[in-house]
Amino acid sequence: MNICFIMYPWERISPATDTTLTLIHESYQRGHNVGVMVPSNLTIRENEVFGFVKMLKGMEKVPTEPAKFYPKVEFEEKMLPISGFDVLFLRANPPVDSIMLNFLDSVKDDVFILNDVEGIRRANNKLYTAGMFGGTESIIPKTYVSKNRDYLIRLIKESKSDKMILKPLDGYGGSGVIVLEKQAQKNISSLLDFYISGQKDQQYVILQEYVEGADQGDVRILMLNGKPIGAMKRVPAENEARANVSVGGTAVKHQLTKTEQRICELVGPKLVDDGLYFVGLDVINGKLIEVNVLSPGGISRINKLNRTKLQKNVLDFIEYVVSSREAALNRKLAHRKAVEDAKHKP
Ligand SMILES: Nc1ncnc2c1ncn2[C@@H]1O[C@H](COP(=O)(O)OP(=O)(O)O)[C@@H](O)[C@H]1O
Ligand SMILES: [Mg+2]
Repeated sequence: MNICFIMYPWERISPATDTTLTLIHESYQRGHNVGVMVPSNLTIRENEVFGFVKMLKGMEKVPTEPAKFYPKVEFEEKMLPISGFDVLFLRANPPVDSIMLNFLDSVKDDVFILNDVEGIRRANNKLYTAGMFGGTESIIPKTYVSKNRDYLIRLIKESKSDKMILKPLDGYGGSGVIVLEKQAQKNISSLLDFYISGQKDQQYVILQEYVEGADQGDVRILMLNGKPIGAMKRVPAENEARANVSVGGTAVKHQLTKTEQRICELVGPKLVDDGLYFVGLDVINGKLIEVNVLSPGGISRINKLNRTKLQKNVLDFIEYVVSSREAALNRKLAHRKAVEDAKHKP
C-alpha cells in the first residue's frame, strides 16, 4: 500500500513519545511505501492535486523501536499525485488548515483519509463536543459558548459553583484553559475582554462547568473505528489545572470504568458516521470534555504503560478497509467485463 502522512515537520517529532512516528514505523515495517509532507506542500498541477512528498528510502535493517528507527530515516522528495496513495493520515496539529481540506476535497473519493475531510470540518473545534447530545445526555459538562461578555459575566454570577473553566474554542494542548474563581470578580471582565477581543477579530469563548475531580486527572481514550483500543490517565502537575502532558501532566495506567465504557458506546457510532476513525476522547470523572480528531496522541505512552502496540490495531484496520475497497472494485471490473463479453458474442 502507499501511505502518506500529512503532518507537522519531521524535525519536530519527539521520538520517544510521538504517536505519528509509531504509525509511520509500523507502516514501514509492514513493507508499505511511506511518504510524509507538511500541509503547505500540497499543490495543484494541471488541475490535479499533487504534493511535494518526502518518500522514505529503503533501509537495510529496520529497527524494531520507533525511537531507534527515527534517526535512521532518509528521504527522497518527489512531486507525486495524491490520489496515487491508498491512505492519507491527517496528522497536522490543530487548528485545522481549511485550505488543506479544500485541496483534499478533490481526492477524497480516491484515497482513504483518516480522518475524513467532512468529519474534520464538522469536528474541527470544541463546538463538536459541546453540541453533541443537545442537552439530552448528562455526559457533557454544562457548556456555554459566546462572544457576549455581559452574558458570560451573568452566567458566572448566577452559577452555583465557585469556579468555572474558560477556554478558547479552538485551543489545544491545554493552551488558554483557565479556572475562573467566582471571588476574583475584578479580573473576570478583563479576562473575558482579552479572550474575546484580544485578537484582530472577536473570538468565541467557552465557559464550562468545572468538573469536580479534575485534579485527580483526566482520561485519554483512543477510539479506533468507534471502539476504545487503549486509555491512560493524565494527572496534572502540582498547582496546575490542566492535565495535558504538554504542560507537565503525568501519564499513568488506567482501566476504563463502566461510565467511560458507556461514553464510548454512546459516542462511537457518531464518530464512525462522521468518518472520524481515529480519535482521542478526554474524559474527566465520567464527563466527556473533548473529542480530538486532528492528530490525537497517546499511543506511545499507552503502549509503555500497558505493554501494547496500538499502532498495530490502526494498521490492521486501514489494511482491512483498503483491501475491502480494492476487492469491491476488482469484483465490479470483472462483472463489467463479463457483461461486455456477452454483448460481443455473435
Ligand atoms: N470543564 C472542566 N473541568 C475541569 N477541568 C477541565 C475542564 N475542561 C478542561 N479541563 C482541564 O484542562 C485540560 C485541557 O482542556 P481541553 O478542553 O481538553 O482542551 P485542550 O484542547 O487544550 O486539551 C483538560 O485535560 C483538563 O485537565
Ligand atoms: Mg484535551
